[in-house]
Amino acid sequence: MSQPALNQDSLNQDLRRLVYYSRNRVGGPAAMNETIRGILAASRTNNARVGVTGALMFNAGCFAQVLEGPGEAVETTFERIQQDERHGEVSLLAFEAVETRLFTEWSMAFVGASQADAALYGDMAGESGFDLSRMTGNNLCAVLHGLALEEEAAAA
Ligand SMILES: Cc1cc2nc3c(=O)[nH]c(=O)nc-3n(C[C@H](O)[C@H](O)[C@H](O)COP(=O)(O)O)c2cc1C
Repeated sequence: MSQPALNQDSLNQDLRRLVYYSRNRVGGPAAMNETIRGILAASRTNNARVGVTGALMFNAGCFAQVLEGPGEAVETTFERIQQDERHGEVSLLAFEAVETRLFTEWSMAFVGASQADAALYGDMAGESGFDLSRMTGNNLCAVLHGLALEEEAAAA
């Protein structure tokens, strides 16, 4: 799915990466599962169409997401995401020009849900939850990328 987007990158002078986190507004685990499923289905279709790739994490009541792709596509996607009432208090950590993508293989990877992952970032998540407000865009992006690689390896 993401290969055509990748092939276009060499022609694209405006590749951008956006990193944000937000607070979940959906209550209950069952509703949350359904919500995640819906978000990922929409993301994978829409993002593949406009050349956006990235990863989404849900943890301790928060979402964290990285979006990469042509600047305009990333902006339009983020504007739509910000309007979504399933989350709020959206905090933008980074929106910057980049040379290459980190998430070449995923129109939207979903990371952090497995037991193994929970152990991996367990150090960062204490009683008070995963403190995203103390992370930089680069840190958060690196965490999500690490988790995506781990999950890919585990699935192989
Ligand atoms: C945390 C979160 C992340 C989302 N990420 C994406 C995304 O990467 N791409 C996308 O198209 N929609 C994303 N959405 C969903 C959008 O807000 C919106 O519901 C969707 O794009 C509408 O798509 P549709 O018109 O095809 O139904 C996300 C929503 C939430 C709450």
